[in-house]
Amino acid sequence: MNKTILTGLRVNSELTLGNYLGALLPMVRLANKHSKDYTVNIFVPDLHSIISDIDGSLQENVKRSLKYYLAAGLTLNDHIHLYRQSHVPAHAELTWVLNCIAHMGEMSRMIQYKEKSEGKDSANVGIFDYPVLMAADILLYGANYVPVGEDQFQHLELTRNLAIRFNNRFGETFIVPEDTKTQVEFMGVAGGIRIRDLVNPEKKMSKSTAGDNCKIMLSDDPAKAAKKIMSATTDSFEDIQFDLTARPGISNLLQIEALINDRPLDEVVAEWQGKSRYGDLKKQVAASVEKLLTDFQSNLAKIDDSGLDALLQKGEAYANDLANAKLAEVYAKVGLR
Ligand code: TYM
Repeated sequence: MNKTILTGLRVNSELTLGNYLGALLPMVRLANKHSKDYTVNIFVPDLHSIISDIDGSLQENVKRSLKYYLAAGLTLNDHIHLYRQSHVPAHAELTWVLNCIAHMGEMSRMIQYKEKSEGKDSANVGIFDYPVLMAADILLYGANYVPVGEDQFQHLELTRNLAIRFNNRFGETFIVPEDTKTQVEFMGVAGGIRIRDLVNPEKKMSKSTAGDNCKIMLSDDPAKAAKKIMSATTDSFEDIQFDLTARPGISNLLQIEALINDRPLDEVVAEWQGKSRYGDLKKQVAASVEKLLTDFQSNLAKIDDSGLDALLQKGEAYANDLANAKLAEVYAKVGLR
């Protein structure tokens, strides 16, 4: 059986450059490189979307997110399956079974939950539980590789732990996805990808951050986005060095430059290391970002989405077959059938 690569992007709102470089682009590059020998599942985690902002605009965003993959250069073929999570009921059903083997302790340690709930009593239970839904998304299809940004690594580890725990208790059922080290090797990147906030580079770039200059959205005017790079916070050292802890701002720019141009990070670092011309590096990164957004937006405008419904129907028939078979096996093992 072919190995499976799988990912999904939440689409409540526009995506950031962080989403693009951390997940969308790696997925597109992997799919274009490997789709002859691997199965590629690209799905819209629309059930995940309603953990925040239930505002009725989801349908529109679902289509838009699929177009994003095409605008980022995905070439479709028969090995690539597109589907919506909410159209494959087994995701929610497996979540319930996994909930019953997940531990409160491990779930309470999820950083995303802590950040998103901000310790509020009124935080919804979906925010707490969505890593289990994510595990179901992955385990139903036996996915080996799951290209995601570094902020999702903890959820990937949880997925591995739940799969191993279930297999130990009920017998070999789930394929355990590769560990994060193997994932990043497969993605061909230097480590987990975490694009930083441009003003406060100790934090990740996030769509929910208020300041406009902190983040680059894929819909930003390209020239305006270039200006944001030019005004990004760096440091007051005398020369350029890659050090994500001591110099997160400049290191972020080096990383952005490498990812956009599909160059090894080491090579880009070697080119700039020790130089004092921060402004030159900023100009180069600004030009790379401007070109990326210009190309992306012009591709997006040209996409003919008339065939998308048919593709989704085909993808969802495929996904339901696979997911229902795995769910039936799980139900039998836990005694529900
Ligand atoms: P989400 O929607 O928050 O983010 C989508 C993807 O973008 C990555 N990302 C980043 N990467 C680098 N730097 C950043 N600043 C940055 N911000 C976001 C995220 O790591 C992610 O890969 N639970 C997931 C969606 C999901 C999923 C899945 C992914 C649901 N089920 C199954 C893979 C497999 C989420 O909320 O990602």
